[in-house]
Amino acid sequence: CGIVGYVGPRDCSDVLVSALTRLEYRGYDSAGIAVFENGKIEVAKTKGRLKDLSEKMEREGKPLGHAGIGHTRWATHGQPSDINSHPHSGKRVTIVHNGIIENYIELKDYLLKKGRTFLSETDTEVVAQLLDYKYNGDPIDTIHNVIRMLKGSFAFGIVFADYPDVVYAVRRESPLIVGIGEEKKECFIASDVPAILNYTKKYYLMDHDEIVKLSHDGVEFFDSHMLPVTKELQEADWDMDAAEKGGYPHFMIKEIHEQPDSIKRTIIPRIVNGMPDLSECGITVEKLREFKNIHIVACGTAMHAGMVGKYVIEQLARVPVNVDIASEFRYRNPLVGEGDLVIIISQSGETADSKAAMALAKEYGAKTLAIVNAKGSSIAREADMLIYTHAGPEIAVASTKAYMVQIAVMYLFAFQFAFAKGKITEEECKSLVSSLLEVPDKVKETLDKIMDDCQYVGSTLINADSLLYIGRGLDYALSMEGSLKLKEISYIHSESYAAGELKHGTISLITKDMPVIAVATQNQLLEKTISNVKEVKARGAYVILICDEDNTFGEDVADQIIQVPKFREELMPMLAIVPLQLIAYYTALSRGNDIDKPRNLAKSVTVE
Ligand code: G6P
Repeated sequence: CGIVGYVGPRDCSDVLVSALTRLEYRGYDSAGIAVFENGKIEVAKTKGRLKDLSEKMEREGKPLGHAGIGHTRWATHGQPSDINSHPHSGKRVTIVHNGIIENYIELKDYLLKKGRTFLSETDTEVVAQLLDYKYNGDPIDTIHNVIRMLKGSFAFGIVFADYPDVVYAVRRESPLIVGIGEEKKECFIASDVPAILNYTKKYYLMDHDEIVKLSHDGVEFFDSHMLPVTKELQEADWDMDAAEKGGYPHFMIKEIHEQPDSIKRTIIPRIVNGMPDLSECGITVEKLREFKNIHIVACGTAMHAGMVGKYVIEQLARVPVNVDIASEFRYRNPLVGEGDLVIIISQSGETADSKAAMALAKEYGAKTLAIVNAKGSSIAREADMLIYTHAGPEIAVASTKAYMVQIAVMYLFAFQFAFAKGKITEEECKSLVSSLLEVPDKVKETLDKIMDDCQYVGSTLINADSLLYIGRGLDYALSMEGSLKLKEISYIHSESYAAGELKHGTISLITKDMPVIAVATQNQLLEKTISNVKEVKARGAYVILICDEDNTFGEDVADQIIQVPKFREELMPMLAIVPLQLIAYYTALSRGNDIDKPRNLAKSVTVE
């Protein structure tokens, strides 16, 4: 979910809706705002998207005022419905919430016994009622008392009927920033920086259990003992263009095209005299020598970047790498401890499962390295070592450029690690680095070369019910991501399979109605993969083959061939992922889907 708040001279409803538009990627099941109009809290909310809220306000009138809070929801407790939409209210308090209150059933029972009644099924309404029940005339004291009763994660925007034009906010685990106007006297709260970029680049980060008060006099922060605190002002280095579509029909295709620049921004500052240099991230050759095992823990696309990392690190540094899904790792009593390095990869830096996995790794005595895109996010702040990816803001829910730079960092790390472990010479390391520096241009060349082919392939998949993605080695790691991309936005079922494993069961699914996308860019494995491709082709499958331009195959192998430029084999994943992204994009486009906001998903899942 995304939350926002505003106090200032502008029309508050307009500011809240515009800020929420930039957070819609965090959820879009329902939307709502609460604004002080002539000293009274007025609420407008609805099931559906922000445009449904705007339409409703056009029909029924919008609250007019200069202070308020807003919310866009990804449903957890309770279905998407008008009643379950935020804001939620008690008699004198109205709130918006991102996160999950784990003990809300106990708290609800407690309030029911006190005679309170509830309109919705949400955990949020329980907190609104609890704030109202505990209200003692002093908002800060009331918030302080109530959050001590809560278990779970939250960021709240809160307004009290007795305090017109004042907005309060507090967070624990869930993200929240506080923006400060540059030209006008105004202030904001938001789950993420892009929400406020239209108005300001200046913001404060909030610590856990800190409370902030926003009024026409400015902002005041109170720590977990209710004492005033002074904080350091941050400045966003993104500009508005980065958060706009800039002429492209969707954020996803814009972000696919931004990949060459994202890679440059991510790798160039980390290369010194032709060698990887991650010392500004707290990583030195001496430190790396100590690690005996690597664990990579992440969710979704970030986990797939970890799969590429595993192949590359193991191959070059000869150190075992275990890749784990964060939600599994955290409950498995994992075998990690001193001498291990746990790498957490996360675009948002706020994924609840990844965050918990990192905390567990620390507790077990391992060192943690975060690879994160969002500056100042929780995972970035809590890791022992940190490498920022510089993809810029990624708005499309389906991740593309963030994945690309996560892989770029995996390579830089693998090169430095292999050198530290004495498995490659300085000369070999420099040669790998210099090839990596060529990748941005090669990605651009790939984009120019294959766009039309991918568009055509996308149109041929429009009626498919189910697909298989196959590959070996690094190509298998890529297949996983290709398959996820397709599922996310086209809603077509697909699975990725190690090509050599097909014959052990899954090949029974092959018919003429099961298209197969095969990735074959690793030359030592080429013959093996091609023979697997022939096996499915012989059984009637429609085959799309992704290989490099030096390889040509006949109709006995594939129905469609997409050739990417030939490049150094270890680095081929950074080129071969591009057609997989584009095939997903164009298939979803042919099917008329909402590409940037696919159903049921959210960009950043800050709940378990
Ligand atoms: C969500 C998104 C995925 C993303 C995953 C991990 O499920 O829909 O696209 O890969 O979270 O997100 P993170 O921000 O940790 O990379």
